[in-house]
Amino acid sequence: MTATIRDVAKLAEVSIATVSRVLNSKGYVGLETKKKIEEAIKLLNYEPNEVARSLTVKKTKTVALFVPDITNPFFSTLAKGAEDYANSKGFTLILCNYEKMGGRKKLYVDLLKQKYVDGIIFAAGALNPEDALKIRQSKIPMVVLDRVPEMEIECEILVDNYEGAKKAVKHLVEIGCKKIAHIYGPQEISTARQRLRAYEDAVKNLPWYTPSLLAPGNFSIEGGMEATKKLLHDHPDLDAIFAGNDMNAIGALKVLYRKGIRVPEKVAVCGFDGIKLTEITTPEITTVVQPTYEIGKLAAENLIHYIEHSFFREKLIKLDATLVVRESTQKLERNDET
Ligand code: RIB
Repeated sequence: MTATIRDVAKLAEVSIATVSRVLNSKGYVGLETKKKIEEAIKLLNYEPNEVARSLTVKKTKTVALFVPDITNPFFSTLAKGAEDYANSKGFTLILCNYEKMGGRKKLYVDLLKQKYVDGIIFAAGALNPEDALKIRQSKIPMVVLDRVPEMEIECEILVDNYEGAKKAVKHLVEIGCKKIAHIYGPQEISTARQRLRAYEDAVKNLPWYTPSLLAPGNFSIEGGMEATKKLLHDHPDLDAIFAGNDMNAIGALKVLYRKGIRVPEKVAVCGFDGIKLTEITTPEITTVVQPTYEIGKLAAENLIHYIEHSFFREKLIKLDATLVVRESTQKLERNDET
């Protein structure tokens, strides 16, 4: 049973108001009395209820956005959507790059525990149980988006990754591709798992399919390059690559260019996310565009609604991703001799 402020007051034989003054370091308390209260807190292992404290502490009008990799333009667009809405409502947004580095992670969660923020937007996927407990205990409202961690979630904003990936593979089949490889993201991430499942469901019964057409790309440019080299080594006759995200697709384009393999004539390439870079590469990359800015904006909108009204207006928002066809899969007169 978690000790309450009432239990502390009873054990120390003082009023709740006196205990509150000690907890908030506000107002006078005699040395002997303060000592008795501190002993009672220690004996009862009492943790001040952050919500109760926050009621006596001014709200900070600040929200934190946790992302897993700020170097990926997907997350900067997400952050822009969230920040633009937060700022329009008079809130500040703190961007936390929640990588696997323990120190940085601990700092951020402890920062939050001290109630420097009124709410969290969590887009970082994996949340270790210790941090999930800290966030839950802090009673700070949290909106989860994109990658779904294994924990109780009150409000989540997702994209239909499965249908989006199906659209990509269907498009590659329709333009005549006969051997489509997939560069998949880290399988501990829900979005990567859904895209891989969609690819397998779409191709597993096609005559050319073999599991060696799958390669891990770690959602990075370098990972896309390594995966493409391996796929070309194992399958020199492959004629399409569906990349788990645009960073992988850019890595694939780089390797194909270096090997003098023409895109799309010899190998078509399709990505996922719709980051701006896919419009700048040569050829421009066909991709499954996520409503990324909108996702960030919706997350901030729902979180700030909770902060201001103490309830979430929507528990689950699922958005569609759209296939945008560009040069890297443009249906051309394919000359298989080249
Ligand atoms: O590019 C980063 C990927 O991680 C995106 O596809 C996004 O959905 C996230 O899960």
